[in-house]
Amino acid sequence: MRFQGKTVVVTGAGGGIGRDVCLHFAREGAKVAAGDLDIAMAERVVSDVTGEGGTAQAFAVDVTSPESVNAFIAEADTTFSGLDVLVANAGVREIVPVLDLPFEEWNRVIDVNLTGVFLSCQAFARNLVAAKRTGAIVNLASTLGVSAAPQRAAYTASKHAVVGLTKELAMELGAQGIRVNAVGPGVTRTPMTERYFQEPEYAEKIRSIHALHRWGEPHEIAKAILFLASDDASFCTGTTLMVDGGWTAGKAM
Ligand SMILES: NC(=O)c1ccc[n+]([C@@H]2O[C@H](COP(=O)([O-])OP(=O)(O)OC[C@H]3O[C@@H](n4cnc5c(N)ncnc54)[C@H](O)[C@@H]3O)[C@@H](O)[C@H]2O)c1
Repeated sequence: MRFQGKTVVVTGAGGGIGRDVCLHFAREGAKVAAGDLDIAMAERVVSDVTGEGGTAQAFAVDVTSPESVNAFIAEADTTFSGLDVLVANAGVREIVPVLDLPFEEWNRVIDVNLTGVFLSCQAFARNLVAAKRTGAIVNLASTLGVSAAPQRAAYTASKHAVVGLTKELAMELGAQGIRVNAVGPGVTRTPMTERYFQEPEYAEKIRSIHALHRWGEPHEIAKAILFLASDDASFCTGTTLMVDGGWTAGKAM
């Protein structure tokens, strides 16, 4: 029970990885503020958490809006009397050749994946500093935060930026006792990637890019996030932990 009495704020909580993050934190005693653009999805996750005997509340939040993010952090604080951990997980992805990538789509991905992480981290850290509390942030990067794949220009740029922003925030917030790290998942089976698995040939290709010859499951990402948020990682800050089945370890020959 590493998070007994702690409050964890999760963005994109209604999605594949977000759901498992909420369940795993609650199983270790945390109270969970589950925020998502789609409140119905966040409410479903909250009902899964409370169904297991955990504590959680759903909040509507758009991570691209400073007003919405500030309201989410303030309401989570009021509801649970103090915040301890942020998981900046909300994310979207395009699959479009760069020559055809519309400006609006570029902006949408950068807004959610990069600006959304910045706004969430800033609001959370401001709250902690004002309350004189210490805490931990875990941002969602990707294998595409340290390497690239075709047709994902905005996504790759945004995730590289998350890796950099994580280092920057760690430098600035370390003195206040706030650790900031990221995880870099390989392909993980969630609603975001579900279409990869509909075609056996493509699913096989997905397997083969990972050294472990399989894709990941959301609980495997959640467990790494809990590690970085916990006191087990008390001397870790500014790092991105790849949880990618060996994708970024090298190339198959
Ligand atoms: N699934 C993978 O293979 C994989 C790999 C590497 C990184 N990631 C990252 O992990 C994170 C979670 O991905 P997932 O696979 O669970 O995706 P998902 O699509 O299942 O869930 C994403 C969630 O984010 C929410 N969201 C989208 N825009 C939002 C906004 N503006 N404000 C608030 N919430 C918003 C969605 O409603 C959804 O519930 C993302 O940042 C993604 O880039 C996923």
